[in-house]
Amino acid sequence: MQAKVPAGLDHKESEVYRRLDPDRLPRHIAIIMDGNGRWAKRRHMPRVAGHRAGVAAVRSTVETAARIGIHAITLYAFSEENWKKRPKSEVDFLMRLLSRYLKAELPTLNNNNVRLEYIGRQHELPKDVQERMEWARQNTAKNTGTVLTLALNYSARSEIVDAVRSLLKAASQNGGLEHLQIDEDTVAEHLYTRHLPDPDLVVRTSGEMRLSNFLLWQLAYAEIYVTPTLWPDFRGVHLLEALAEYQKRERRYGGLNHNEASAAERSAHHFNHAKPGTDSGTNSNDSQAHDAKLAHGH
Ligand code: FPP
Repeated sequence: MQAKVPAGLDHKESEVYRRLDPDRLPRHIAIIMDGNGRWAKRRHMPRVAGHRAGVAAVRSTVETAARIGIHAITLYAFSEENWKKRPKSEVDFLMRLLSRYLKAELPTLNNNNVRLEYIGRQHELPKDVQERMEWARQNTAKNTGTVLTLALNYSARSEIVDAVRSLLKAASQNGGLEHLQIDEDTVAEHLYTRHLPDPDLVVRTSGEMRLSNFLLWQLAYAEIYVTPTLWPDFRGVHLLEALAEYQKRERRYGGLNHNEASAAERSAHHFNHAKPGTDSGTNSNDSQAHDAKLAHGH
């Protein structure tokens, strides 16, 4: 039976959606939005025109994610490196664009039941931008649908540094270092993303094959999908295509798939029960010598 297409998807989106298994959608999608500058350059326009055009891509992608019931979507809008290494005029433009986006999109975010969150060193952003961000966060706080997290002035390494600082601070307030117990869950609770599950899928536009300091801890087991589409051309239908590709993959988390696991089981059984010197070869003198070599690190 074909999956029921959610309301609001256009014709092309509905076509791709019908190929999806609604029970195997990723819970959390992370997106590295890239290619705004190249998009503008191809049109002989200033770089900032690419950023402006990127807003329509954000709108379409977030709406589609919300309509199909994705739990969380995180957009890499602005890295710490962007902030420090781009001309001030471009940074100022991006800040104004963000402020305008938050104001203009609030009704659409609310109509789509989207809740806004942020990750990154927000306190380093201009005061008026911080105020607008907080305003938008509060005005979507009651929404219960998709969580849209904007990574702004974000760096994964800084996030890990901040997590270590926060852990040490918590330890000093709770009896000191000798009582500190650390495991993966404790670290995750001190990351900026403590409100989110780890992404199952990371999408990068414009064909670049890098993570660029984005969610390095959280993407440990994520599927990576790279599309040549430049961010300003990206739309909801492209997100659905990424999901179709994601559903073709098999996630193993360092384990084996079912067939491989059975085959490994059979060969281990064979190995353990083979008599020394039989033609299974596994216990021959040659292989013992080989094993001894390996054990000595040759
Ligand atoms: C990367 O393209 C994109 C950015 C640094 C900014 C992303 C911003 C937007 C998509 C605009 C709006 C976003 C929000 C949330 C309002 P690039 O400039 O590095 O492109 P290039 O690699 O082609 O030069």
